[in-house]
Amino acid sequence: MTKQRIFSGVQPSATPTIGNYIGAMKNFVALQDDYDCIYCIVDQHATTVPQDPVTLRMQTRSLAALYLAIGLDPEKSTIFIQSEVPAHSEASTIVRCNMGMGELERMTQYKDKSQKQQSVSVGLFTYPAVMVADIILYNTNVVPVGADQKQHLELTRDFVTRFNKRYGYGSSILTMPEPLIPKTGSRIMSLQTPSKKMSKSDANPKEYISMLDNAKTIRKKINSAITDSYGVVAYDPENKPGVSNLLTIFSAFTGESIDDIVKRFGGVGYGQFKRELADAIIAELEPIQERYNVLFASEELDKVPDEGTTRANQIAGETVRKMKRAVGLGR
Ligand code: AQP
Repeated sequence: MTKQRIFSGVQPSATPTIGNYIGAMKNFVALQDDYDCIYCIVDQHATTVPQDPVTLRMQTRSLAALYLAIGLDPEKSTIFIQSEVPAHSEASTIVRCNMGMGELERMTQYKDKSQKQQSVSVGLFTYPAVMVADIILYNTNVVPVGADQKQHLELTRDFVTRFNKRYGYGSSILTMPEPLIPKTGSRIMSLQTPSKKMSKSDANPKEYISMLDNAKTIRKKINSAITDSYGVVAYDPENKPGVSNLLTIFSAFTGESIDDIVKRFGGVGYGQFKRELADAIIAELEPIQERYNVLFASEELDKVPDEGTTRANQIAGETVRKMKRAVGLGR
C-alpha cells in the first residue's frame, strides 16, 4: 500500500524554540516511519520580514542540522530548502490569482506579525498563499503543525475545493490536506507573557527557550518564568496561565499526563516543580545539541538537502505543470 504523504516546514527566521519543537518538529520524527514525509526549510517565508542575508543562510544550514539532530532520517524523510525548488514560486502566482484579498486580510497571524513591523512587506501579506502552494505541490494528505497554522490550513482546504471546482470540472487536480495538530502543546506560550505565543524571533530571549540554549540558560529562563502568587501547581489556563503553560511543557517533554504532574507537585510549591521541569528539558535537548554540533560542522550536511531537492523538484514540478495546464498557462 502506498503511504500517505506528509508535508510541513519551519522558517529559519531564528533558532527554533521548544514551542516549534513540541508543536511541530517532535511530531515530524514520530511520523516518519508511517508516512512518506517531506520536510521543508521554508527560507522564503523567513524573508517576509527583514533578515540579515549572512545570518539567514547560516540559520538555514543550522535548521538542516537540527532536523537531523532531532532524529529525522534522510532515508525516510525528504529534507529540502524551499528557495531551491522553483515550483514554489511558480505555484504561488497561480494561488494568488485564485485567492481573494478578503481571505488574506482575515489571517490572524498576518495581523499579529504586521503589528510588530515598522514597515510591512507585500510578502508578509501574501505569505499564506505561498504556504498554500507549499502544501498542494506535494499532493499532501497530512500537515503536522502547531495551532497557529490552523487558519492557514483552512485557507488551503478552501483553495483546493475552489481550484478543483474551477479547473477540474469534476476531477480532483489537487489533493485535499488535513491538519495534524498535537493534543498537548499545540500552542506553547511565552515564558514572560503567557498571553502570547512563544516565538523564535521574539526580541526578548527570556520569552522563549531556544533548542540550542545551554543547561544554565534553560535553568535561568525557567526560574524566571512568570507564575503567580498562589504557590500551587494546578492547571487552570484562564486564572493561572503561566503555571499552566509550564505544566503543558512538562507534559510534552516527559510524556506524563498533566493530571499526574499536578498530583506529584501538589504540595511542594513552584521551586521544585521548576527545577524538575528544567531537568526534563535539558535531558531531552542535550543529546540533540551534541548531535547538532557534530552535524553543523560536517561537510556531509550539504548532501541531505541536495538529495532532497532532487526529489522535491520532481514531485513539485509535476504538480505545477498540472496546475499550469489546468489554468491555461503556456502553450
Ligand atoms: N508557540 C508555539 N507552540 C506550538 N507550536 C508552535 N509553532 C510555532 N510556534 C509555536 C509551530 O512551529 C512550526 C514552525 O513554525 P514556523 O517556523 O513556520 O513559524 P511560526 O509559526 O511563525 O513560528 P514562530 O516561532 O513564531 O516563528 P517567527 O518568530 O519567525 O514568526 C509551525 O507548525 C508552527 O505552528
